[in-house]
Amino acid sequence: MEIFGNKCHKIIHGNTVDALTREVKDSSADLIFIDPPYNIGKNFNGHKDRWENDSDYLEWSYSWLQLCIKKLKPTGSLYVMTSTQFMPYFDIFLRNKLNVLSRIVWYYDSSGVQAKNYFGSLYEPILFCVKDKNNYTFNVDEILVDAKTGSERKLIDYRKDPPQVYNSKKVPGNVWEFPRVRYRMDEYESHPTQKPIALLERIIKASSRPGETVLDPFAGSFTTAYVSQQLGRKSISIELQEDYIKIGLRRLNLSDEYKGKKLIKELKTYEEIRLNKEQLLLFEKNDKPYLHRKNKKNTEKKLPKSK
Ligand SMILES: C[S@@+](CC[C@H](N)C(=O)[O-])C[C@H]1O[C@@H](n2cnc3c(N)ncnc32)[C@H](O)[C@@H]1O
Repeated sequence: MEIFGNKCHKIIHGNTVDALTREVKDSSADLIFIDPPYNIGKNFNGHKDRWENDSDYLEWSYSWLQLCIKKLKPTGSLYVMTSTQFMPYFDIFLRNKLNVLSRIVWYYDSSGVQAKNYFGSLYEPILFCVKDKNNYTFNVDEILVDAKTGSERKLIDYRKDPPQVYNSKKVPGNVWEFPRVRYRMDEYESHPTQKPIALLERIIKASSRPGETVLDPFAGSFTTAYVSQQLGRKSISIELQEDYIKIGLRRLNLSDEYKGKKLIKELKTYEEIRLNKEQLLLFEKNDKPYLHRKNKKNTEKKLPKSK
């Protein structure tokens, strides 16, 4: 197990069960966001997210869920995701240990290939739980959204005495629509299940205050820690894969190198093409060879015709 970071943002490279047991103090997290492998066969950098059978996956999941409950402050909140097929088990396991306040559906549209012989899945479930239902943080004013019906049409609510115009803002309901992270988005990182910044912003703004600690036991591309940092929260992140640890170190600006190598965000293919075009122009203008940042060969790549 290796630990990186500073006083505000800690990154633990290791197995979440060991890391939670050995490196995270009991009752220390104000907010825990858990986005584990879903047991649906995703490929995490060569590691298949698939257990021998369902009970093995559930047994493993219950072990870190139990630990997370231990690490949560008495006033803390816990959000957990998993696939639609396993969420009912998580729900039943947690409802006797925490108070489940919302069963959230994160809905997204998909322009990609959809199932043709059944109704394809366009949502992921999220459970929102608290330890003490009479004492937890919920910053309503931080997460208000436009209340479209009524206010947009300037309708009057005649049920009120005296009648009033409809509110223009409201607390979001439990169906959240945020686009998935796409390759062309600025926030895109090379991770198969990266969660959107907007999703984490809503959770962190609602359920924590500046200066408080947000724990993410399956950090992936480190969206939780990144948003925590942007919003002035502290963070503790745990991740098994070295390649993703490198994303975290770079995304949180904790280091600009890892084991002697510079941490640079990979260029996207269209950015490389654009860069090559610019380099060619530079080459033509200066009439002297130009060395590509990555390797010399790139300057010899056939370039698409300019428009
Ligand atoms: C669903 S992804 C998390 C995605 C993340 N929320 C994001 O926004 O990018 C799950 C992550 O857990 C990591 N992981 C899997 N098993 C682990 C374990 N036993 N301990 C720590 N991390 C693990 C995987 O490498 C993967 O990056």
